[in-house]
Amino acid sequence: MRFLITTPIYYVNDKPHIGHAYTTLAADVLTRFLRNQGKEVFFLTGTDEHGSKIAQSAKKLGISPKVFCDKNSRLFKNAWENLNIKYDFFIRTTDAKHEENVKSFLNKLKEKNILYKKNYEGLYCIECEKFLTEKELFNGKCRDHNIRPTKVLEKNYFFPLKDFLKKIEDLIKTEELKIEPESAKKEALGLIRQGLDDFSISRRKVRWGIKLPFDKSQTVYVWVDALLNYITGDGSKKFKQYWWENGYVIHILGKDILKFHTIYWPALLIAAGIKVPNQEFIHGFFTVNGQKMSKTLRNTIDPNNLVEKFGADATRYLLLSQFPFGQDGDIKEENFVKKYNSDLANGLGNLIARILTLLLLAKYDLQNPKYRADKKILEMVKGIDEGYKKYMGNLKFYEALKEIWKLIDYCNKYINENKPWELIKTNKKKSDQILSNLLYCIFKIVELISPFLPVTSEKIRNQLKSGKLEILFPRMGASY
Ligand code: MSP
Repeated sequence: MRFLITTPIYYVNDKPHIGHAYTTLAADVLTRFLRNQGKEVFFLTGTDEHGSKIAQSAKKLGISPKVFCDKNSRLFKNAWENLNIKYDFFIRTTDAKHEENVKSFLNKLKEKNILYKKNYEGLYCIECEKFLTEKELFNGKCRDHNIRPTKVLEKNYFFPLKDFLKKIEDLIKTEELKIEPESAKKEALGLIRQGLDDFSISRRKVRWGIKLPFDKSQTVYVWVDALLNYITGDGSKKFKQYWWENGYVIHILGKDILKFHTIYWPALLIAAGIKVPNQEFIHGFFTVNGQKMSKTLRNTIDPNNLVEKFGADATRYLLLSQFPFGQDGDIKEENFVKKYNSDLANGLGNLIARILTLLLLAKYDLQNPKYRADKKILEMVKGIDEGYKKYMGNLKFYEALKEIWKLIDYCNKYINENKPWELIKTNKKKSDQILSNLLYCIFKIVELISPFLPVTSEKIRNQLKSGKLEILFPRMGASY
């Protein structure tokens, strides 16, 4: 089976923070895991670059919106490079090919007579880039941005969302569109039951956007523009046929944008006669010291700083091992050092150093394992391997990491109990069997960690080949 894995495309108005990194890392880890299983995968990510907020930010800096987008889009690319995230294509909504695809998609809806024109008066929050209902306000202000929305009166083109709700409900219920975890599925079905209004797909007020092909006085609503990135992909015809239409499509996203992905997006696709995604996985939110992470609170954590401090592999581990993927969780930066020391320096790093030291001491021929691992070890590893695969396939990264660390802890205990350093002198045969067992376990660990810690995995492989010991994760002092 071939897979298309996507992240949301990130707003260039913000700088990359660990919330963005979390979604992108998850997609990267899943991609690497599936490739290890011999699957074909296309991994798509990118940046969302239109809307008045972006035009305003550029104006403040005295530069054109395009220059602003070029600069900020690069920040995301750099952050992903630092985290060793390997996507297949990085889409930008200002790419000419994407703009062309958006226009032809809207032309298609127009030709099918799906869109209608209507006067629209609403309260528009420029920060959310969306209309808010009275109910959604708090003291007349947007709850998320604490600003008063502006009253906007426009004649817009509307998309008849209501006509598609029943169909979407069926797709979700039958799992033709699989929404995970269960709580997110319930939320999507709840929104449908409550009833949702038709939405306007164009804006007269927003100038920095893609012009509507059949009415140049309007631009395409940023969310429609952004969602369409998933079918534009790298802009090739092959992408649409090979990856979208014939692939198993998985969207990974955070819970704040559930409505757009689970309801608006499938509706647009059904209307245009295009296949809907197969699966959407909705993850939770990071708070920092109990508070929502936001620019205004100045508590955003820059993934680049973490990489500088801990290295790419450790940062990848630290972010994905915080809490189960579908849930919310709180981050305390000082816990990163503790976790780094306990799991990576003392856990994995120390284990590899211990085993390699023992192998060298015993003059064990690393190229030719002496014995097959014994039955008990084979069964234990098989159990771990099965658990790991099940979790990874369901994007349960936190649980999958726990399985790997079970094996690491087992090996550390196994060494303590069997004391091979003594047996090397007294019972060579027994010590060789123990070392063969440990070598078997390391090879398994190397395989299982590779989607999370690709560089470390490679380093261990090389150490096993060359027999040269190298510290993988130096311990960090508390002052860090
Ligand atoms: N541009 C839209 C997406 C359009 S996709 C068709 C957008 N961008 S975003 O930059 O604001 O957010 C992108 C992703 O980062 C979302 O999946 C969002 O949930 C995630 N996160 C943003 N803040 C987060 C946390 N504090 N914690 C975890 N994830 C967070 O929305």
